Amino acid sequence: MKPLGLLLVVLLAIIGVYGVDRNNFKSCDQSGFCKRLRPFKPEKSQYTLNLDSVIVHGNVLSAEVTTVNTETEKKITLWRYALKLSALVDGTFRIELDEADPLYPRYRTQLALNGEPKADGLKLISNENGKLTLSNNQGQKVLITSEPLKFEFLDKNGDVAVVLNENSQLLVEPLRVRKERTDDEDPGNAENAIEVEEEGTWSENFKSHHDSKPRGNEAVSVDVTFPDADQVYGIPEHTDKFALSTTTSGEPYRMYNLDVFEYELDSRMAIYGAVPVLYAHGSKRTVGVFWHNSAETWVDVVNYADGTVVSSLVNLVTGGQKRRVDARFMSESGIVDLFVMLGNTPADVFRQYTTLTGVAPLPPKFSLGYHQSRWNYVDEADVRSVDENFDAHDIPADVIWLDIEYTDRKKYFTWDLEKFAHPAEMVANLTAKGRRLVVIIDPHIKREAGYFVHEDAMEQGLYVKDKDGNVYEGWCWPGSSSYLDFFNPAATKYYAERFRFENFPGTSKDVHIWNDMNEPSVFNGPEITMPKDCRHYKPPQDGHDGLASFWEHRHVHNEYGLWQIRATHLGMLERSDNKYRPFILTRSTFAGTQRYAAMWTGDNAAEWGFLQASTRMCLSLAAAGISFCGSDVGGFFKYPEPELMTRWYQAGAYQAFFRAHSHIETKRREPWLYEASTTALLRDAVRRRYALVDFWYTLFYEHTLDGTPVTRPLFQEYPKEEDTYTIDDEYLLGDKLLVRPVLEPGVKSVKVYLPGRDTNTLWYDVDSYQAHKANGYFTQEVNIAKIPVYQRGGSIVPRKERVRRSSTLMANDPFTFVVALDANNTASGSLYIDDGETYDYQNNKYVYSKISYEPNRMSYTLVNPAAQYSTRAWVERIVIAGIRNPPKSARLLQGDRSSALQMTLHRGNDVLVIRKPAASVATDWTIEFAY
Ligand code: NOJ
Repeated sequence: MKPLGLLLVVLLAIIGVYGVDRNNFKSCDQSGFCKRLRPFKPEKSQYTLNLDSVIVHGNVLSAEVTTVNTETEKKITLWRYALKLSALVDGTFRIELDEADPLYPRYRTQLALNGEPKADGLKLISNENGKLTLSNNQGQKVLITSEPLKFEFLDKNGDVAVVLNENSQLLVEPLRVRKERTDDEDPGNAENAIEVEEEGTWSENFKSHHDSKPRGNEAVSVDVTFPDADQVYGIPEHTDKFALSTTTSGEPYRMYNLDVFEYELDSRMAIYGAVPVLYAHGSKRTVGVFWHNSAETWVDVVNYADGTVVSSLVNLVTGGQKRRVDARFMSESGIVDLFVMLGNTPADVFRQYTTLTGVAPLPPKFSLGYHQSRWNYVDEADVRSVDENFDAHDIPADVIWLDIEYTDRKKYFTWDLEKFAHPAEMVANLTAKGRRLVVIIDPHIKREAGYFVHEDAMEQGLYVKDKDGNVYEGWCWPGSSSYLDFFNPAATKYYAERFRFENFPGTSKDVHIWNDMNEPSVFNGPEITMPKDCRHYKPPQDGHDGLASFWEHRHVHNEYGLWQIRATHLGMLERSDNKYRPFILTRSTFAGTQRYAAMWTGDNAAEWGFLQASTRMCLSLAAAGISFCGSDVGGFFKYPEPELMTRWYQAGAYQAFFRAHSHIETKRREPWLYEASTTALLRDAVRRRYALVDFWYTLFYEHTLDGTPVTRPLFQEYPKEEDTYTIDDEYLLGDKLLVRPVLEPGVKSVKVYLPGRDTNTLWYDVDSYQAHKANGYFTQEVNIAKIPVYQRGGSIVPRKERVRRSSTLMANDPFTFVVALDANNTASGSLYIDDGETYDYQNNKYVYSKISYEPNRMSYTLVNPAAQYSTRAWVERIVIAGIRNPPKSARLLQGDRSSALQMTLHRGNDVLVIRKPAASVATDWTIEFAY
């Protein structure tokens, strides 16, 4: 977008004309390969596996696949491909299909996987009647039909769980040489066939932008069938429902990281992130597929249970079977590289995905507190006053954020020295209260003579190049900008070094980083991003010339931001000699983002619809490995009225990343700028968050152990309960708390679904300890102060009730353990504690305990006795909710200590409170009850 254009949209936004300009973004029809591939539905697949070529070695089957021209009498081989099927640990298979002998290497996505996936065993059981049968070590099987090529993946029961190429839409467009046809050549001749291809093969236009497509068409596609599935989920980031919709009558879901100004709700349009993992769930099983591809991708979905699919067609295709979902991935380039994850439960498949792409490492604890941001806190005095106002209003906060205006005219790694003359002092003032600073660093670099980053990047050749090999120049916040090419190890190294404290004066271990605009956003580029024919670094290798000497931006687009946050992460580790855990926030996401950063849902608006969308968007991202997700609390554009602001704080307090942020042109809205009654509600919401920071921290620790989402869809824990499959306005924190934030204006009640009917689950209202029996929907009355949150009977949740200025200052505060009893009068939970910021926990400096309650005893036991952390925190209260037969006495046993404890009964005598057991949380203890 030209600067004037940008100004215009900003102006329109301010005067209230709000909404995305769809003209700036492609529809499927405007995206060459999507238009070409979407109607491709052959009766029969042209792909055939050559049975004589099959070799099974280790965990890999390799074979030749060919396409044949079936229209001629004599079959003519058109193209040869190399197929690889690998068995991987934990019930996962991988299919790779590449050209056997491509003109130049096709791009293989580089950074999504957390290292080379681990192998399982693979056995060829039979090769007969044109079918191969293979099995992994766990007894899951793959049947490969050779002609037409088809893959069926069978679960442990021998039932078909996933099918590839059932709909014959497997496709790898071979790379070809562009041959100019002279007038006297016959276009009917096969030699010249490529010259009669459709327009767009060797270049495309979108608005005023020309894409030179030097490699021509190179798209890939595969269709995936999920028998027995009721719903499919995943492929974030979209604003649509969590359970994905049938796309037949509209656009497919698009995945192409874009800076979409005023993005729209309930949409399949691409926005900032793309995580190409798809899950299918039904009462029989949960499975998933991960499409390992970083190019522009479109996904079609057909759910056969949807009214939109004509029933006769359903019968024809499914043989009367009603439950089935078909999906199809179409990408502009790359190879077919698909991981098939066979579940069998939702938790299994979510874990299988993070086994491939990595878990989120343990975040620094402060980052789970409350973050206060705004574009912009204008100077040091402003920062000081915001910081002080939190104290004056008794609202805890852990982080103050600085947006782009802190820099010297958008030159990252510099300060505007008029407004921020003493950054180190400013930071020290925050850290004195246990607070931190986060500053923004974007990937675009101002092209200004004398700016060291620009001069170094020019001199050392660190920028992305344009289609002709010159440094690419685009327009972003600083004006004319170039973009670091993080694919070049020298650029990553250079960038990482910029984070050294000596290179970024004023920063310290307590200054953390926000990587924004990293789709990348280019205001004057096609679809506000980088042209697809820009060139990225490719390591030198054989035949490293011409088109083989670089990757085009089209190949890598969706992983550009991932490369940036990786470089930032590296730099932040190096700046502290690997001592402190970095916190990074990213806007662009891809598979694997969780290994480096938290994310947020970008530029939303102060509207109820965006508050609603935040819940389902973060659910989808968490299922796709990125649990550390939040939205701009209050909305970025526009001004939230008190009710919306209140509800957003209340919702945000129960989302992993809890940050208020707002646009530079909006009215200021720090919590104390509202009427006192609203400020009180915002304060209450933030305090509720702080009471649970240790619980969140424990959940994130457990995520590092098992890779399952921190924030979970209900069906993860209650996979057989069909009503849960489409619920996306409530969710679980771990398996313990159920959150149904109020997301609607003016309501006096909300409907809350309480799952677990079959297991007699109880859900305790966390405000009153009133127990509700799980029985589907019930009506919860709400006033403006109410946040419907329920603790599952059978769980124990650690809380801290004392109010402090920041989570750091709460480190040694005492705990309250809330024990919510199940129908058997038992409960269990856990607690993780460490220093909150270093990697010492990797050297056994932590406490991780399992807490369990039975009628005769409650025990607190370190899981790994070799791991110790000397905390002064202790237990000041134990609340046991749902008690039916209260004990007469209780005695604490810890080390040499044995002391009688005081207890009181509350509510209708069903809440027992043990006062001041004063047990330390650093070592094991037991409380024995007598009746
Ligand atoms: C776009 C981001 O989405 C927004 O949060 C930020 O305030 C602006 N860039 C300015 O940096």
